[in-house]
Amino acid sequence: MGLFDDYITNVKSHKKTEPQAAESSAPPSETAKEQASAPPAAKPGKSSPVSGGVNFNNSHLTDILELKNIHQTYDDGNVTIFKDLYFLLEDKPEQGQFVCILGTSGCGKSTLLRYICGLQDPTSGEVLIHGKPRTHDNRVGMVFQQYSSLPWYTVYQNVELSLRFQGMSKNDRRDIVLKTIELVGLKGHEDKYAQYPSLSGGQLQRVAIARSIVARPEILVMDEPFGALDIKTRLQMQELLGKIWHETKTTILFVTHDISEAVFLGDDIFVMKSNPGEFVYYHHVKLPLERTRELKRSDYFNKLVYEIEDEMMEMDSLSKKNQ
Ligand SMILES: Nc1ncnc2c1ncn2[C@@H]1O[C@H](COP(=O)(O)OP(=O)(O)OP(=O)(O)O)[C@@H](O)[C@H]1O
Ligand SMILES: [Mg+2]
Repeated sequence: MGLFDDYITNVKSHKKTEPQAAESSAPPSETAKEQASAPPAAKPGKSSPVSGGVNFNNSHLTDILELKNIHQTYDDGNVTIFKDLYFLLEDKPEQGQFVCILGTSGCGKSTLLRYICGLQDPTSGEVLIHGKPRTHDNRVGMVFQQYSSLPWYTVYQNVELSLRFQGMSKNDRRDIVLKTIELVGLKGHEDKYAQYPSLSGGQLQRVAIARSIVARPEILVMDEPFGALDIKTRLQMQELLGKIWHETKTTILFVTHDISEAVFLGDDIFVMKSNPGEFVYYHHVKLPLERTRELKRSDYFNKLVYEIEDEMMEMDSLSKKNQ
């Protein structure tokens, strides 16, 4: 029995959705790229909004996250980051969601995550979690590239923090905290201060992940969390995160600049363009949900990486033409 089994059994029982054929959607203006539909059949009576080239079909499944009519401007409206942006994440029961977002620098990825965490409101538009406007009661975990743990607290104290804020008793939280520390591979480091050099960069990100999953978030957002790590640690952290996702079955929204990382981790990948920020490509990754490094050597993996790389290059030249 894993740490989050009670959480998982609470999830409505539903047939597991096995990955279908790789799907990608491209902007209508694009050349003869093979087009396939994004998620399942449309809800009767509900529209299927489009952002850029991605058609967000609204199916019978529960909406986890919906961003509607998002406008973001700065400088008294002279700078527009988003113009009527739409984004939808639907529940995949008993599986959770691992969604990766790729996009050029400045297209608005971190801004979107800030909306979801409640760190920023859009200039106008709605941020809905489970169909309702986001409130501070929504449990959203966050992991950023910068190490965000409290250096004057030990690993244990950092991880227990959100349970303390929830008012859980010391005894009740002990078991959960220790199991979470074990899950992220930090058993034996409980009493070390969460600071460099007592802990390495990779270990500090493990603390950040443990802190954000211990309270069983509805959504976990991660903004380039492995960007500052050396390659070996990064690969280890990717495998660890895949394992954690399996165990927690939570919804993870993961921003990265590394296409290979997105294909390795993501079940779904969205690609954004800038000026204004919009979702222009969608891919469903047709790999087993449990990923191993060997999969990176498969033709499918490499083909998808190159396909997305081509899309990003093409998109970049289109954005430059539009400037
Ligand atoms: N307070 C602000 N005032 C003006 N512009 C801002 C402000 N905050 C963000 N921006 C602009 O919004 C745009 C989106 O920023 P954001 O950080 O979301 O991009 P990003 O896609 O995460 O980029 P990166 O990949 O480099 O992290 C950028 O062009 C940024 O300059
Ligand atoms: Mg960013």
